[in-house]
Amino acid sequence: MNNSRGKFITVEGQDGAGKTTNIAHVQELLEQYGIAVLSTREPGGTKLGENLRRLILDGHEHKIDATAELLLIFAARAQHLEETIVPALNRGTWVLCDRFTDATFAYQGGGRGLPMEHIQTLQNLVQGDLKPDLTLLLDVDIDTGLARSRRRAAEHPDRFEQEQIAFKRRVRKTYLSLAEHYPDRVHVVDASVEIEQVQRQIRHILDIYVKSLGYTLE
Ligand code: TMP
Repeated sequence: MNNSRGKFITVEGQDGAGKTTNIAHVQELLEQYGIAVLSTREPGGTKLGENLRRLILDGHEHKIDATAELLLIFAARAQHLEETIVPALNRGTWVLCDRFTDATFAYQGGGRGLPMEHIQTLQNLVQGDLKPDLTLLLDVDIDTGLARSRRRAAEHPDRFEQEQIAFKRRVRKTYLSLAEHYPDRVHVVDASVEIEQVQRQIRHILDIYVKSLGYTLE
């Protein structure tokens, strides 16, 4: 099975949805099936991407225009695809990415109000046909997400964590509408419940997906 192309799995969700813990869990589950997994993140995942991430998230040094922000995110993505994601998929490694272009639709499209067509145009330019094979959308209500991300980022909230509640509502709404539009790819996980229950939902989705490709537990 290792000579086939790897699968591209993304994990999405609002700030405070619990992505970090759950991504580690996804990686463990895939490895139990004997799958080689490369875990990475956006914005970031390459040296250039991590430098761009610092600029994008840090509000102290520059005031960033929304279109400039969008272009910086896609610049990081182009590098990430070329340097990391595509080569890994080509050698049969699965790529597990903490956020990808659904986040751009949710944050820059929904949150900032940039035209979705512009994001689609950049998506075509940068990704061609490449889209995630499976996306887990960790969904939490706004209050839970806020409480969790405040706890985590108490002292130095980044530019997105500093946004108003209305922005966060638009982000969540856009994510949920993406799940409605792409029900075969985007699976909503209720991430407001206890961690064990969140992980049970994740295991269920992954078991079905991985078994459908012919993998069995090692
Ligand atoms: P993280 O905290 O999940 O690592 O993500 C960093 C922030 O970047 C998060 O608040 C969402 C934001 N972001 C966008 O606004 N657009 C994007 O396309 C991506 C990938 C992230």
